[in-house]
Amino acid sequence: MGAGIPLTWRVLAPADRRDFSLLLDRAFGLSAPASYLADFPVWDPEIVPAGNRHQVGGFHGPRLVSTASLRFADYRFADGTDARFGLIGAVATHPDFARRGYGAEALALAIHEADRRGVGGLALWGSDSPLYRRRKFEFGGNQIRVPIASLRFEKPALAGYEFRSGWDSEIGAHFLARKSGLRYQDGDLLWLSRHPNVEWRTLWIDGKCLAYVGWNRGIDLPNLIHEIDGEPAACLVLLRLLQERYPALEWLAHPELLRRWKIEGSEVAAVEALAQFRLRTLDPARIGEIWFSGMDAC
Ligand SMILES: CC(C)(COP(=O)(O)OP(=O)(O)OC[C@H]1O[C@@H](n2cnc3c(N)ncnc32)[C@H](O)[C@@H]1OP(=O)(O)O)[C@@H](O)C(=O)NCCC(=O)NCCS
Repeated sequence: MGAGIPLTWRVLAPADRRDFSLLLDRAFGLSAPASYLADFPVWDPEIVPAGNRHQVGGFHGPRLVSTASLRFADYRFADGTDARFGLIGAVATHPDFARRGYGAEALALAIHEADRRGVGGLALWGSDSPLYRRRKFEFGGNQIRVPIASLRFEKPALAGYEFRSGWDSEIGAHFLARKSGLRYQDGDLLWLSRHPNVEWRTLWIDGKCLAYVGWNRGIDLPNLIHEIDGEPAACLVLLRLLQERYPALEWLAHPELLRRWKIEGSEVAAVEALAQFRLRTLDPARIGEIWFSGMDAC
């Protein structure tokens, strides 16, 4: 790896959006109409408030060539205790500037900021790489990936419902009302609502949204159900709907959820790690309890 000329690093601002977007699309090999920020609007520097985000850019003269992003969010465990997480994403270096240590530097800056703000742990969703391994990230947590066609469960006793397609502010309300899992704030609703490549369905009775389900997210999570929440019976009705209309879908879930909802057929599931973690104060024994949904992952 050749040593590169030192870059000038600074925190990114809304005015950097265009260059940031171009860099990400180049690094991840995307071209129009696909775009990284359409799939990960959580990192759109123009979406404010950004108090729970920290995004750095390394500049070669005026040119943005390397970057990493960090989002702070509290995780609430089922017993009501909270742990602060730093979630890392959008780590990228322009291919013309690869292998000069810039990606590692961007990551180190994000880790440093997370340490400074006292997170209990860091998590990221990337492939296995020395970039992360050398910085003490380890795969952990539980996730299963199961074809929905294989799942068996009792027909839920629910009547008088209707389905709706597309994002609805009620989905956002469900995110904000989560009893456990990653905590969302009002400021997150804007980017959450801007996922043009996610398929959303909601179930309604008497004008009340009881449950939602989401699948797909552009380059990320293709053909995968990655969100489902609400009243259990209503969730099962949504799952049944998808089994009938989109039988080729797979579902990413925490194994405990299938047990809780009495769903059978998960023997065929692939068992995967949930994320790569770098723990600071969080007890490693608690990692197995954690569930990050697709929207949490960034
Ligand atoms: C991954 C990426 C950010 C690395 O950027 P970079 O500036 O070239 O990285 P560095 O020069 O700092 O190298 C970082 C480490 O990754 C390793 N590495 C970099 N490119 C690599 C490659 N193509 N194959 C194997 N290892 C590689 C280096 O050996 C180095 O390891 P070390 O720190 O233990 O020496 C860059 O290749 C990229 O933008 N990739 C596409 C986007 C992506 O996949 N991002 C990560 C997921 S969010």
